Amino acid sequence: VFGRIDHIGVAVEDLDAAVELYRDRFGMREQHRETIEAFDVEAVLFEVGEGHVELIRALSPDSSVAKFIEANGPGLHHVAYQTSDIDSALEQVKAAGLELIDQEPRTGIRGSRVAFLHPRSTGGVLTELVEPAH
Ligand code: CO
Repeated sequence: VFGRIDHIGVAVEDLDAAVELYRDRFGMREQHRETIEAFDVEAVLFEVGEGHVELIRALSPDSSVAKFIEANGPGLHHVAYQTSDIDSALEQVKAAGLELIDQEPRTGIRGSRVAFLHPRSTGGVLTELVEPAH
């Protein structure tokens, strides 16, 4: 089910400051920027090896990212694993008794199909499955 780590998601309050940190001080290459309607966030992807860092900023107070920051402050938000077939991956994690936030995949960044597992069932780590757009 779980292929390589696709990205880690970092919740930020100030996207410009975070971009400056990752681009200018860490020296990572900014690869992509997108507003993701399904999640009510603006996201910026940085290349790091074969994976990415995904900076995410809430676009409304109702966004789950806004609620996360309210509860925890900015910082590490989720880990995303790549899968080649998210439909069967969801069936497998469901069969394994894990709690899904998304019963069906949603459209994530760059046209990917994504679904989140609830941190209640994953040892406190918000876990995302990603099937990249082909
Ligand atoms: Co993500």
